[in-house]
Amino acid sequence: MTLDEKAKLLTGTGMEGFSGDIAVVGETNGLVPGAAGTTCPIPRLGIPSIVLGDGPAGLRIHPTRDGDTATYYCTAFPVGTLLASTWNPELVERVGEAMGNEALEYGVDVLLTPALNIQRNPLCGRNYEYYSEDPVVSGKMASAIIRGVQANGVGASPKHFAANNQETNRMASDSRLTQRALREIYLRGFEIVVRESQPLTIMTSYNLIDGVYSSESRDLLTTVLRDEWGFGGMVMTDWFGGKDAAAQIRAGNDLMMPGLPAQHDSIVAAVNNGSLAIEDVDVSVKRILNLVLASPRFKGYAFSNKPDLEAHARIARQSAAEGMVLLENRGALPFSAAVKNIVAFGITSYDFIAGGTGSGDVNEAYTVSLKEGLTNAGYNLDADMAASYEKYIASENEKIKPDTINPLAAAMPKVRMSEPVPARAEIARLATRSDIALVTIGRSSGEFADRRLKEGDFLLSAAERNLIESVCREFHAAGKQVVVVLNIGGVIETASWKDLPDAVLLAWQAGQEGGNSVADVLKGAVNPSGKLPMTFPVDYMDASSSANFPYDYQASVSTPALLPGNNTKTKTELVRNVDYTDYEEDIYVGYRWLDTRGKAVSYPFGYGLSYTSFEYSAARLSKTGGVFTVSVNVTNSGAVGGKEVVQLYASAPPSTLGKPAQELKGFAKTQELKPGESQTVTITVAESDLASFDEARSAWVTDAGTYKFRLSSSSRNVRATLDAVVERASEIKTHNVLNPREPLTLLNP
Ligand code: GLC
Repeated sequence: MTLDEKAKLLTGTGMEGFSGDIAVVGETNGLVPGAAGTTCPIPRLGIPSIVLGDGPAGLRIHPTRDGDTATYYCTAFPVGTLLASTWNPELVERVGEAMGNEALEYGVDVLLTPALNIQRNPLCGRNYEYYSEDPVVSGKMASAIIRGVQANGVGASPKHFAANNQETNRMASDSRLTQRALREIYLRGFEIVVRESQPLTIMTSYNLIDGVYSSESRDLLTTVLRDEWGFGGMVMTDWFGGKDAAAQIRAGNDLMMPGLPAQHDSIVAAVNNGSLAIEDVDVSVKRILNLVLASPRFKGYAFSNKPDLEAHARIARQSAAEGMVLLENRGALPFSAAVKNIVAFGITSYDFIAGGTGSGDVNEAYTVSLKEGLTNAGYNLDADMAASYEKYIASENEKIKPDTINPLAAAMPKVRMSEPVPARAEIARLATRSDIALVTIGRSSGEFADRRLKEGDFLLSAAERNLIESVCREFHAAGKQVVVVLNIGGVIETASWKDLPDAVLLAWQAGQEGGNSVADVLKGAVNPSGKLPMTFPVDYMDASSSANFPYDYQASVSTPALLPGNNTKTKTELVRNVDYTDYEEDIYVGYRWLDTRGKAVSYPFGYGLSYTSFEYSAARLSKTGGVFTVSVNVTNSGAVGGKEVVQLYASAPPSTLGKPAQELKGFAKTQELKPGESQTVTITVAESDLASFDEARSAWVTDAGTYKFRLSSSSRNVRATLDAVVERASEIKTHNVLNPREPLTLLNP
């Protein structure tokens, strides 16, 4: 290969609308129109271009093609947060298999999923794509998706490596955090992924980590990722991520996506002027060629363009129902046999939200609304109310003119129309002729912008609160019940209103079959078994990171978040939480903070109700070769079938290092247990899993002593406690890298 050919291979072929007149985009863009990007072909050497496509909720490509009568719709699966809420890796792996099959059959070689950044703060715009505030849940769910996708021979690309926890100024913001917070929280999920599922690629994040772009950090991409964890695949940038292509190659970031001519030229110039060793270029070229050789396209796979979308829709419907979380239930769910006539309030009942916005969106053929799902399930939806909502939605949509100026506007979070509140007399009249009322609250967020601490976002709007209060007042006066359905992608305020209705079902954003999945749960065809993979705090400021998060920053479309990083400000010009964010909470994210401080929450991490109940018995543990095997019998003590998620939290013996009150170390979900049926659940915990990262020793250290193992049905509902004794301390050395440039003032938990 010539140097020019090597530089071409290291830089993608560009992106529609962003790459000027790169000839090759025309040639490769026809491979799979609408895919996120392609690598550069070298026809002289028989090297084909390979195709990379988003995203975590399913493949995203153009659903139609000019001059082609065929359609290319993909399945909108449940979003990442909902999949994590299943706490069922086997199920999530099956979803990954279906996603990967659609990539394979549409000719895509790498599916840019999973997105496993830690949900550090409730208001990060992309939390819907991410899994959890906890690294074990994040790592296990991501590993399951990767196994499923790669079972098809398609590559996966866990992203965004690492510490990409806000959208505000994401391409230039500096995540400033300690080595311990990185190791224990923000890298930990990726470490689990690399060790347990061998992803073919990894995507670096836009942001800087302690002053260095992640895509330019050799400490991160070579010392930790490859030398310590043994990653053997290829690393790509996020789209237009980072700044210095030669630095990225030197660091171990092999492929610049989507690719710009300037990156190609800078690599050639750097080799010619001696600032970039050809050996580093060759290492990256080899990694990319290995990926090409492994690709279905290189192997000549004859993709059909006809994946089994009906089978995948069934998987979407079933997995969505399993990830929904029953938050409240005072006798309203499942619907009794007497429920026939339902009135659904809330615009979202008729305009159901399948997923979030940005690269994590999918071009699906349809979305089943709640109205359709309930009708499909045989219920009578009040037609007058449906008609008036649908008329209102249509008229409001008329007013929202497409933003033709900003090319990314279509991908930006949609402004939700205001919630109409029917007159009290109207609601009272409906209460006499309906058996039950539903009130659906919707939220949409996505890439390019974080959410806001304001009414209509984290907080209910005045109209939403008025709607819930009015419907509860009138229906309760008529002796009828009210169920609130949350069709949201991230945490909202719940404590101030959750006691008003008779039930609250967290439906998340359930993909294209969402309305059917909610109906399956409401009618009792599926017993909800979802558990929260993050905390719902009472107040936003209870979250440990909120003081260090841009919850009120007025981002405009032209902020750096949408433009290549341009952090050229002087030290005094830097804006806190925009140009840099101090992770002062350190390892105390989510329940790690709230449990350690004993703070009340609205709904705790790991929480979720069921239509049945479970008894735990005969909890026991044994240890062989440094690995604890913990078992407990779970019995369905209720009247209907259901699944239980057993969570294992560990509390360490006193330590000078300072540790959270408890940390999740493992979990297991039962199969569907019939009433009276029991299952022995087993969870293994290695002594090394109990280690904390000691910066002074550059090592993971497991102290000797007695650890409390709590077997729980939520982080705050302990069902059995065991003593796990570690006789001898142990440590696993690491390199002393990724330290903050300046000391951080850490919060005291
Ligand atoms: C986006 C996202 C990333 C996505 C990529 C390609 O900006 O950050 O998740 O895979 O670019 O669309």
